[in-house]
Amino acid sequence: MYHQAVFDEPIITERKGRRTIKLPLEDRNFNVDIPKEFRRSEIGIGDREEFTVVRHYVRLSEMNYGVDTGFYPLGSCTMKYNPKIAEEIASLAGFRMIHPLQDPADVQGALKLLYELGGALKKITGMDEITLQPLAGADGEFTGLSIVRAYFECMGELDRRREVVVPDSAHGSNPASSTMAGFDVVEIPSQEDGTVDLDAFKAAVTDRTAAFMITNPNTLGIFDDKILEMASYAHSKGALLYYDGANLNGIMTKTTPAKMGFDIVHLNLHKTFSTPHGGGGPGSGPIAVVEKLRDFLPYPLITYDGKYRMDYIPPKTIGKVASFNGNFLVMVRAWAYIKMMGEDGLRDACETAVANSNYMSRKMSEFMPVPGKVLKKHEFVASATGTNMPKAGEIAKHLIDNGIHAPTIYFPLIVREALMIEPTESATKEEMDSFIQKVREAINTPISVLEQEPKNLKVGKIDDVDASKNPRPSLRMARKLKASQ
Ligand SMILES: Cc1ncc(COP(=O)(O)O)c(C=O)c1O
Repeated sequence: MYHQAVFDEPIITERKGRRTIKLPLEDRNFNVDIPKEFRRSEIGIGDREEFTVVRHYVRLSEMNYGVDTGFYPLGSCTMKYNPKIAEEIASLAGFRMIHPLQDPADVQGALKLLYELGGALKKITGMDEITLQPLAGADGEFTGLSIVRAYFECMGELDRRREVVVPDSAHGSNPASSTMAGFDVVEIPSQEDGTVDLDAFKAAVTDRTAAFMITNPNTLGIFDDKILEMASYAHSKGALLYYDGANLNGIMTKTTPAKMGFDIVHLNLHKTFSTPHGGGGPGSGPIAVVEKLRDFLPYPLITYDGKYRMDYIPPKTIGKVASFNGNFLVMVRAWAYIKMMGEDGLRDACETAVANSNYMSRKMSEFMPVPGKVLKKHEFVASATGTNMPKAGEIAKHLIDNGIHAPTIYFPLIVREALMIEPTESATKEEMDSFIQKVREAINTPISVLEQEPKNLKVGKIDDVDASKNPRPSLRMARKLKASQ
């Protein structure tokens, strides 16, 4: 029986204590010229003994759930095991303590790492050049579409090419990034089997199309085998092809976006290459491009001529998209992961992730609908629809109440009551079986019982109506409101 660790204690900023270490800051005469409005008289952590603070945060961490505590089948997030060796390497002082403004001669090792990572990712995608700068997948999308824009501006076609064609199975960031980059989004429907409707695609792609943007395998975990036909059709209309590489775990080493005919790819290092997605931590969304788009990449690019340099400015660059060279330590983890795995290891990870996903989808299709083609890649979507079926949210809460992280729910939007499941290569058979058994159990549990869950967690059932009608301010907000009264 699962019970979450529960500690009922006030948060640390609200507790009084005894200060054991007094820093003599008050006595120092700092000669810093910080404008008054930016100064704080207190930092809001109060006077607490070190051990009280440490114990408080360790207790809080015991109430948490992460890739190190259990199975984490969050669809679209590739929550794979994060090898501790990658963390160790990223925490080496030689990486952690350097500064981007240091003389390149002093940080040759770090630049070499970035150069090698770029080279590995070019090989994995089949592309000709890469920038590591974007800070997340969506930032990569925005960067890639800004390159599309700059390319057509340079070709004198931007006035006409105002549209980006996106399937309705796309991640929400695809239409959002297209809009932010100044394009109109043309959505095309998927067929029953989860792949793009080719007739709708051909009707949508015209000489107004700047780019066709697609994730393959898509958010249903389905590989669209019409991709070569779609790529050559889009190219015949003069459009570019954008590959959302967030799902690369399902194809890496098996094929490349270049072989599928793509011109621009973004990768989510914080999914496929070690740093687990989720939790709002730092990300990295490199953009790799074909030769004709090289000159438009953000600057600076890292080059090597006997020494590693970070000062090459592509002649038609779209500018910078992040400070310095992006989230460096995520790149260190990705580099360590790729080095450790090698090509064979990456192939093994991909094949195991796909085998796990197919194992689970076949088993789950025995008792609930799993739409789209039977053969999946790295993830699949089950639909909590049918007679007496609980809602996706109720199944998710039953899982959480039994110590299993819920899958992504209510996404993608094209599947009703969606449970989007991505076991990754890190799941064991026991974990997958116990997940399946708990979903089956939820389906066989009376709704009146499910409605009471979760019961074994610190936070019980939330009154959704009350929460949306009477939103409570966050603690910080509440303090500000109090102070302003
Ligand atoms: C298919 C797909 N594309 C794009 C993104 C956006 O990536 P990020 O969250 O790093 O911005 C995600 C994120 O989950 C995704 O699943």
